[in-house]
Amino acid sequence: MSTQGRYTITAALPYTNGPIHIGHLAGVYVPADIYSRYLRITGNDVAFICGSDEHGAAIPMRAKKEGVSPQVIIDKYHAIIKKSFADFGISFDNYSRTSAPIHHDTASEFFKKMYEDGKFIEETSEQLYDPEADQFLADRFVTGTCPKCGYEEAYGDQCENCGSSLNATDLINPKSTISGAEPILKQTKHWFLPLNQYEDFLKEWILKGHKKDWKTNVYGQIKSWIDDGLRPRAVTRDLDWGIPVPVEGAEGKVLYVWFDAPIGYISSTKEWAEREGKDWEPYWKDVNTKLVHFIGKDNIVFHCIIFPSMLKAEGSYVLPENVPANEFLNLEGNKLSTSKNWAVWLHEYLEEFPDKQDVLRYVLTANAPETKDNDFTWKDYQARNNNELVAIFGNFINRVVVLTHKYYNGVVPTPDAFSEVDEQTLKELKAYPAVISSSIERYRFREASQELMNVARLGNKYLADEEPWKLIKTDEERTKTVMYVALQIASALATLCEPFLPFTSTKLKNILAQSDVSWNDVSEKEVLLPADHQIQKGELLFSKVEDKEIQKQLEKLEATKKANEAENKTVEPQKETATFEDFTKLDIRVGTIVEAEKMPKAKKLLVLKVDTGINTRTIVSGIAEHFTPEEIVGKKVTVLVNLAPRKLRGVESEGMILMTETPEGKLVFLNPDEDGINPGAVIN
Ligand code: MF3
Ligand code: ZN
Repeated sequence: MSTQGRYTITAALPYTNGPIHIGHLAGVYVPADIYSRYLRITGNDVAFICGSDEHGAAIPMRAKKEGVSPQVIIDKYHAIIKKSFADFGISFDNYSRTSAPIHHDTASEFFKKMYEDGKFIEETSEQLYDPEADQFLADRFVTGTCPKCGYEEAYGDQCENCGSSLNATDLINPKSTISGAEPILKQTKHWFLPLNQYEDFLKEWILKGHKKDWKTNVYGQIKSWIDDGLRPRAVTRDLDWGIPVPVEGAEGKVLYVWFDAPIGYISSTKEWAEREGKDWEPYWKDVNTKLVHFIGKDNIVFHCIIFPSMLKAEGSYVLPENVPANEFLNLEGNKLSTSKNWAVWLHEYLEEFPDKQDVLRYVLTANAPETKDNDFTWKDYQARNNNELVAIFGNFINRVVVLTHKYYNGVVPTPDAFSEVDEQTLKELKAYPAVISSSIERYRFREASQELMNVARLGNKYLADEEPWKLIKTDEERTKTVMYVALQIASALATLCEPFLPFTSTKLKNILAQSDVSWNDVSEKEVLLPADHQIQKGELLFSKVEDKEIQKQLEKLEATKKANEAENKTVEPQKETATFEDFTKLDIRVGTIVEAEKMPKAKKLLVLKVDTGINTRTIVSGIAEHFTPEEIVGKKVTVLVNLAPRKLRGVESEGMILMTETPEGKLVFLNPDEDGINPGAVIN
């Protein structure tokens, strides 16, 4: 195979403040891997580059929370992330980290070159400063209301609700996350990249990009940024975590993480080239190299405006050919969140489903958030596995392999003349490489994965129509031809599935004892598996996912939800001061529940009769999900007896039973010795 072109494929460097989850995979790493594998097997020279982004401001934040140094955090997550990518079959040519000396050098050099060429403007400006903690605040350390969508917990650099990228000084009602204080503005000197000077360059470049069919979501975002007008952007920060600014008079300042991180693609390429004895420069500087960035939509501005302007300013680099950014993936209807632990974590998935890498790869591809946000559900995971991978792909291969062993001891039979159906089927098969290529080359991986599944469907339909298991009884010669044709389809599948299902591809190639069928062979060669070729014993490619496995995953998520709710509840702030007079107004007495029944058509309510010593009265209580009527009759409880009566569902309630709640959300009667009731639990 001759080399067709040189590609530098990058996948967003993940922050090492948490492990990888399915959102990262669906948005970035699975499509990037499909693309890279595809380019390699179609004869291109590929550098597939990634690494850990270790200077993010959330990293010292997490370290602070856990009471350890940032180094401990990055070492921990770098190891977890790197291993989980490898075990998942993401075929990076190099996975580096931005704390590596080669990266510090590369980023410093890049900054110095731009500095010496006069590409920065130096400006003393006002930045947010925490007067209590006595330090400047990184954007991440400030939260407040998003000026674009009104979300109240936006970070200073970005709103996780609408995805807008922000400046901390834009936030409404800003608050320091270090001390809770309202930040003040304080003067400090920084270096800025005057993005306004790059407007014409960017306009022309993205217009070209648009002509190359950039995704509309990407094009739309860049265009609106440019139309809004670009402002100079600070590329240095007052922080002690990051790469020191390599010029005089910059003590205590580091490079902005979004300045150094994309340069990480370059340093990771250098590291790879050094190890492989190659020259890194053509991968970044030869005009014929195609540079493609795989990212999530929250990274668009950095990869389509800031980094290209940096590359242009430096002067010797190529610009990205395309930036096929994806939208977001949700999980069971809710936003994925590292801090809320709302995720399917890759390293946990690999432990729980150790031989199902390809299943997750397939599900995330077939349901990829390519043009809009999408939802991952475990039910869909199960259905795609059982109804597609098992019932279509696995079933086809299994029938072909079993019958070949049964009828011919695993030797590919010699065909007779092809029938019209055979010719038609083989013709359709030969068309698939071009169809799948076209989808992949246009970054339509969902579509590509469905076309792949159609190859297996073609095989299944062929077998169902020709019925070799019946034919063998009446026409042995014709059966040989049918099995021969089916084996060609199996062979094509082994090759065509490689970018999507690499583990399956390896297994299937082993079963078929096939080593040398290339992507183009599928359409160009007359014969993929020749007559007399011996295949190996079969093994199952896919296995069913049972209901109970899905149930277990759903329960895990349910537990996360409960834990999050409990965490929010333990820290309720103290209410307003009550005077002694206020308190003596409350008449709280011991009472006995003498009757209890469910309120008709109300899930939560019980209607109680309570003997308060004063009288026996009706109290409606919202405890029906926690107690059965039978178990509480006879119980002694505390009752607020002089609460103004009020009607609930037409029943007048005269008083309130005092209760509290365990961290798991279970209501209990007031008895603070009960297990799980901690200081601070609110009585109501
Ligand atoms: N760490 C960033 C994120 O997770 C992505 C960095 S991409 C790079 O959002 F280009 F800066 F490397
Ligand atoms: Zn917003």
